[in-house]
Amino acid sequence: MLSDNLKILLASTQSFAIKTQNFHWNVEGSNFPQYHAFFDTMYGDVSDTIDKIAEYIRILGHYTPGSLTRYSELSIIQDQTKIPRAELMFAESLQDCETMIQLAVTMFHEAANENQQGISNYMAELQDLYAKKAWFIRSILKKERE
Ligand SMILES: [Fe+2]
Repeated sequence: MLSDNLKILLASTQSFAIKTQNFHWNVEGSNFPQYHAFFDTMYGDVSDTIDKIAEYIRILGHYTPGSLTRYSELSIIQDQTKIPRAELMFAESLQDCETMIQLAVTMFHEAANENQQGISNYMAELQDLYAKKAWFIRSILKKERE
């Protein structure tokens, strides 16, 4: 059901935003200023999508989950309670971007099938957002290996 998937998307976005802020605060390394800034920008871009997703759930006539307990139940993004080293932070973030892309693609088709073109269009925007982040991260990881 589209509203159920929107709840999963909302919870996963909240989880990803929290993790990204954790990485922004705790990342270390010789490229610290760039890493710190990258995670800050990504945190902002991911957070900016939360309200729109939540309001789509309301537009479809359902209540929006709004508690940490519900988010941890619904999220498909793995929580990170530790402080990984920088390379692992980026590797994990890349995997999370790919998870978000898959969810956005699935929901793009689901929304279109239900004639929710606005939601479908927003899923395309989210796919683009996470694909661009994934490209940045892959480029950062490649540089680290040289
Ligand atoms: Fe900050």
